[in-house]
Amino acid sequence: GKSGYEHYMLKEIHEQPRALRQCLRGRVDELSGTVDIGDLGDLSPTGVQFVACGTSYHAALHGAQLFREAGIPSQAFLASEYATATPPIGDALVVGVTQSGETADTLSALRAARRRGARTLAVTNVVGSTAARECDHALYIRAGPEIGVAATKTFASQLAALNLLALGTSSTGDARQVISALRDLPGHVQEILDESAAQEIAEIYQDADAYFFIGRGYHEPVALEGALKMKEITYKHAEGFAAGELKHGPLALVTENTPVFAIVTGDDERARKTVGNVKEVEARDAPVVAITDGQSDVSRYADHVLELPETHPRAAAVLANIHLQLVSYHTAALLGRNIDKPRNLAKSVTVE
Ligand code: M6R
Repeated sequence: GKSGYEHYMLKEIHEQPRALRQCLRGRVDELSGTVDIGDLGDLSPTGVQFVACGTSYHAALHGAQLFREAGIPSQAFLASEYATATPPIGDALVVGVTQSGETADTLSALRAARRRGARTLAVTNVVGSTAARECDHALYIRAGPEIGVAATKTFASQLAALNLLALGTSSTGDARQVISALRDLPGHVQEILDESAAQEIAEIYQDADAYFFIGRGYHEPVALEGALKMKEITYKHAEGFAAGELKHGPLALVTENTPVFAIVTGDDERARKTVGNVKEVEARDAPVVAITDGQSDVSRYADHVLELPETHPRAAAVLANIHLQLVSYHTAALLGRNIDKPRNLAKSVTVE
């Protein structure tokens, strides 16, 4: 049941600390600062191609960034495109990211890769799913069953699992910092669940014409995910962009009735550039909601702040998404939408 929550989606949003703990349990050794993902640790890929759809594609974008940062060429593909125009694979490992393990587009992409002799890995939530059975390897995200059509806890768990995969099969300079950020993640998620101002934001902007989401680096896939969740459950227009792309077209859509959610953490060059993009938006009188750890001066240009703790940017991406899930959820609730079963959508899409 819904354990007292009004919707499965809200219950599942609140299950994220536990889902993340389950994903990390036994796989992270905090003392030695190492990751143990069993046999998968021997994969040592020289290249990685991710295939996925929807929310899982956003997780795949995160995964591809992780491997590129470790010096391993990597790219995320929409499964529906990959299946019909399979790119050269070489000796890349092909990773299907799929919560259900039953998404037709993703299964087709994985089959196309296998026909070309590629090794395949399923990153999935469902033990015994078609993707898990058909791939050479499986990495389970262990989020527990997800009933709401909107993917919430499984996205957080996918990001955590992909971090384990990258840490376990490659080496990066800041592995220790990432592991410590992962260890802190469930507690940080709980703080956001307890303290987020998302409901107030939803109340203020429930009548907006459209919602825009921007971010750079690890925050770009979260911007895309924020928009997908918003349109899926509120039926309102929402778009996510890499922050730098706003001025190349979408800025024409920005008005005083289109709140812009900007994810900005740290105070490096990336953050400063996103703050620059926020100033452009503010100059056009659009309301700005900054999702920030307060290290940059973005809040000076923002109408509202959704607070994040200071942590590794990879973990901050998971945390920023929690605020955005809550904004979408509360907006949909205020609009009286059928949150757990949005119109026209199915939990797992078994047709191409
Ligand atoms: O089961 P999968 O992860 O393969 O599903 C992929 C998408 O259909 C899914 O993530 C969809 O985008 C969600 N409903 C979004 O909330």
